[in-house]
Amino acid sequence: MSPTRTPDVLVVGGGIIGLVTAWRAAQRGLATAVLDPEPGGGAAQVAAGMLAAVTELHHGEQTLLGLNLESARRYPDFAAELTDATGRGLGYRRSGTLAVALDADDRAHLRELHALQQRSGLDAQWLSGRECRRLEPMLAPGVRGGLRVDGDHQVDPRRLAAALVAACDRAGVVFHRAWAERLTVVRDRATGVVTTDGTGLEAGQVVLAAGSLSGRLAGVPEAVLPPVRPVKGQVLRLTMPARPTPFLSRTVRAVVRGSHVYLVPRENGELVVGATSEETGWDTTVTAGGVYELLRDAHELVPGITELPLTETRAGLRPASPDNAPLLGPTGLAGLLLATGHHRNGVLLTPVTGDVMAQVLATGELPEEARPFTPQRFSTAVLTEQPA
Ligand code: GLY
Repeated sequence: MSPTRTPDVLVVGGGIIGLVTAWRAAQRGLATAVLDPEPGGGAAQVAAGMLAAVTELHHGEQTLLGLNLESARRYPDFAAELTDATGRGLGYRRSGTLAVALDADDRAHLRELHALQQRSGLDAQWLSGRECRRLEPMLAPGVRGGLRVDGDHQVDPRRLAAALVAACDRAGVVFHRAWAERLTVVRDRATGVVTTDGTGLEAGQVVLAAGSLSGRLAGVPEAVLPPVRPVKGQVLRLTMPARPTPFLSRTVRAVVRGSHVYLVPRENGELVVGATSEETGWDTTVTAGGVYELLRDAHELVPGITELPLTETRAGLRPASPDNAPLLGPTGLAGLLLATGHHRNGVLLTPVTGDVMAQVLATGELPEEARPFTPQRFSTAVLTEQPA
């Protein structure tokens, strides 16, 4: 697309959700631009990349489960297509997940999760502590039992983000490296965005995909402002030794003293340990307390981690919505669509989000699987007037 042509679609936000939307839209022949000072940045630079539809199942989230499973089902083809398009691997590993219990309370919690998984028709196998340790010899001797879920895979979100930037480039997506200042609304229609350096960018349709910042763009009428908030996650990166091989062969996770902790081993020797869940606003400080709690809980699961080099500590912001599910598709303001609110499932939901958003951008029709996630479920008022 020529940088001077008015695009059909302007995506505000170049994280993985904005990028996949732009890539898929461009593949449909829509002239597409992305506005972001640093495309490929955002929460994906921090996320562990678990594709955990089954082990992160929660009561009351059955509808979201359907979308999560649909996206997990699309992952193999999505990863292969993105790699073919760019020559870049995504670190997609079908190595499975083991959710373990350390005490009687954890075991009761896991039994409850297992019952919910079974009622939902999901594949999860209960293992004794001994069976868990046979699978993962580095587990603590005190592990009381666990759930083996071979269908919960992983991808490396940093590699995913880099591949999406490359795919967008190759598909002719134009990147504007700036921040969005304000949505432009003319006669009850979103027509573009003004950047913080004062540049006006016009577009046929605007997609707000700015993660936890999506609810803060000036000019968006109150009635359609997405109700997303930041939920901070602190994450550590360590390096596993070459021996014993492998240190861990699959994702290991648990709920320890009420907090989720997971260890995600990558093929390249990186071990990602996450994550805190903190409602502290737009704050990405890594705290001593956060690092301490993650290491303490991870050490209870896998004592040998204290020997590993700690190579990185970082915090990111999950874009959470009131029902923990994403907001996908048109808003009550013509020309403005949303792709945000993915909370704990942004990496998992990347393939289905790209497909859904491209379809609605190209045809105006929100596909069946995305209808429960329309932003209009949160609309508080009919739009009667626009801000000046
Ligand atoms: N899905 C993992 C997390 O949000 O921490």
